[in-house]
Amino acid sequence: MGQNTIIDAIEKQEWLKTAGDAIHPAVVNAFEAGGEAGQQVKDALHGTWLGHPLHPALTDVPIGSWTTAAVLDTMELMGKKKYAPGADAAVAVGLVGAVGAAVTGLTDWTGTTKERRKIGMMHGMLNAGAAALYVTSLLLRRRKNTRGTAIGLSMLGYGVVSFGAYLGGHLVFGKQLGVDHTATAAEYPEDFVSVLPENELAENSMRCVKAGEVPVLLARKNGKIFALAHTCSHLGGPLSEGDLLDDGRVRCPWHGSVFSLEDGSVVHGPATEPQPRFEVRVRDGQIEVRTPAKENK
Ligand code: FES
Repeated sequence: MGQNTIIDAIEKQEWLKTAGDAIHPAVVNAFEAGGEAGQQVKDALHGTWLGHPLHPALTDVPIGSWTTAAVLDTMELMGKKKYAPGADAAVAVGLVGAVGAAVTGLTDWTGTTKERRKIGMMHGMLNAGAAALYVTSLLLRRRKNTRGTAIGLSMLGYGVVSFGAYLGGHLVFGKQLGVDHTATAAEYPEDFVSVLPENELAENSMRCVKAGEVPVLLARKNGKIFALAHTCSHLGGPLSEGDLLDDGRVRCPWHGSVFSLEDGSVVHGPATEPQPRFEVRVRDGQIEVRTPAKENK
């Protein structure tokens, strides 16, 4: 079965949509019930403080630990019993890491829809199944007469988590989840370019304009004009169709990421990458923008 066949088969599973649609509001509501604190926890789990999604970094802990366990288990099966305590410890460390990976992954999953949500659902279920196998294995490792079964369960768990990791990789590299959607081959203008007559940008409004090939969000708030990359860094949402907030921020219409208009920094996730900002000036009745010299892409 080829790669596309596997992914296509998963995407056709309507029960994944049904299950995802049932779980999604429960997770979102849990964060919202926490008010401002819930929002801060959600942002922290996304990795807004890191400028990078936190989930992929944490997945290295269970995958690395369980790879170590597989190697040490193999040594034990080859008669080198001294590696047994190391294997048991690696399984336990992997389980601790899996908790962090699960919580951050579930948080990122709230910012997905359609096929991404389905594949994310399958990814999470596989990893939960693998964790259950490792928990059972850890319990059985204590007794000599069940140690062989325990190692077998760990090996099975390793296969399951590897397939889960493959789906996680597809979400990033195939579905572009967790990558910076403002990264583009288009040239950001190093010199000021005219993008809109000033009188066409009303107070308290936003517009999408083009600076060369680059879509730019123009916003006017309290008499000041701001310009950011128009494509949301999270999953490419059109920022001009979002909300211009009273506190000089813009909210993406797709999954609610909030960015500062002043500097493009992420105020709330799921985005973790800032929006590139542009310098703005008005000359001869025209709004002009350019990318700041140090931020040229
Ligand atoms: S595209 Fe998801 S928050 Fe903007």
